[in-house]
Amino acid sequence: MNPPGGSESVGQDTAVIPGEGTPDIYGVVGHPVSHSWSPFIHGMFATSTAQHLVYRRFDITPDDFRHDILQLFAGGVRGLNVTLPHKQAAAELVNELTPRAARAQAVNTIAYFEDTTLLGDNTDGVGLTNDLERNLKLTLEGKRVLILGAGGAVRGVLGPLLEREVREVVIANRTPSKASSLAAEFADLGSISGCAFAELDAGPYDLILNATSASLHGDLPPLPEGLVGDSTVCYDMAYGRGHTPFTAWATAQHAARACKGWGMLVEQAAEAFLLWRGIRPHTQPVLDALAEHG
Ligand code: ATR
Repeated sequence: MNPPGGSESVGQDTAVIPGEGTPDIYGVVGHPVSHSWSPFIHGMFATSTAQHLVYRRFDITPDDFRHDILQLFAGGVRGLNVTLPHKQAAAELVNELTPRAARAQAVNTIAYFEDTTLLGDNTDGVGLTNDLERNLKLTLEGKRVLILGAGGAVRGVLGPLLEREVREVVIANRTPSKASSLAAEFADLGSISGCAFAELDAGPYDLILNATSASLHGDLPPLPEGLVGDSTVCYDMAYGRGHTPFTAWATAQHAARACKGWGMLVEQAAEAFLLWRGIRPHTQPVLDALAEHG
C-alpha cells in the first residue's frame, strides 16, 4: 500500500491545489490502479472549484483491503474512489450506504465524516446515464440493452438503467450463474435476464455495454454474430488510447457508434466530488482535455 503523504505513490499524483494549511487527502483504491485517470480528473475539478486537496492512487490487494482502507481513513484520508475488484468489499466495509449503493450492494465512493462515519455511495449509474443522455444525447426509454459482465460496475448501473424504463436488460457473463443471480436481484425494477455469452441469440440490441474487465488484459468476451444492427450503440466502460478490443469489435460489426467510457469516468467522478466537497464541478473542460488522450 502507498501511505498518504508517503513517497512510494504509484503513478502520478495530482498537484496539491494551493490553499492555506494541510490539504485534504483523497484517492482511488484498486488493484491494479496504475492506469487510473482519476488523479488527473480530480486535479482539474479541484483547480476549477478552488478546493485545497491532494488526490492519490492506492494499489491495495483484496487480502489487504479492509485493513489498509481503515488505516487510510484513520490516517486522515477524507474520501476514496473504489475501483475493481473492490466495489463489493467496500459495500461491506462502510458503516452506512446511500440508497443507490444499498440497491447496488456495491460502492465506488467512500466519504469520511468527522463523527467517524464511513458513508458508501455508488455514482457509477448516474455517471453512465449522464454520459449516455447528456453527453451522447441517447434516449434510453424503450431500448433493448445488452450488458457484458456481471461484476461490481454492473451492480451500480442496473438500477438507473431500469429506472429509465428500458424495454429489457440482458446480462451475459463468463460465469452465467452470476448473470442470473444479478438479474434476479433487480427483477423488481423491470424486465431483466442473465445468460452465458454463447446463449445470446436475440439481437440486434439498441445498446451494448461492455462491463467486463477483459480489455484490461487485451481480451474480448466470445460474442456471437447478430448482436449489432445499423443503429446499435456500443459503449465500453473501459477506456484507453485508441480502440479497446470491444470498440474494435463494435466497429468491425458496423455499429452506429463505438464509444469508450471516458464520459462515465468523468461524470461518476463529478458526483463523488460533490459528495466530498459539496460542489459539483463542470465536466466539459475535463472531457475536452481527455479527448486529446483518447
Ligand atoms: P468491476 O468492478 O469492473 O465490475 P469485477 O467485479 O472484478 O470488476 O468484474 C469483472 C467482470 O469482468 C466479471 O463479469 C468477469 O466475469 P466473471 O464473473 O466470469 O469473473 C468479467 N471478466 C473478467 N475477465 C474476463 C475475460 N477475460 N473474459 C470475459 N469476461 C471477463
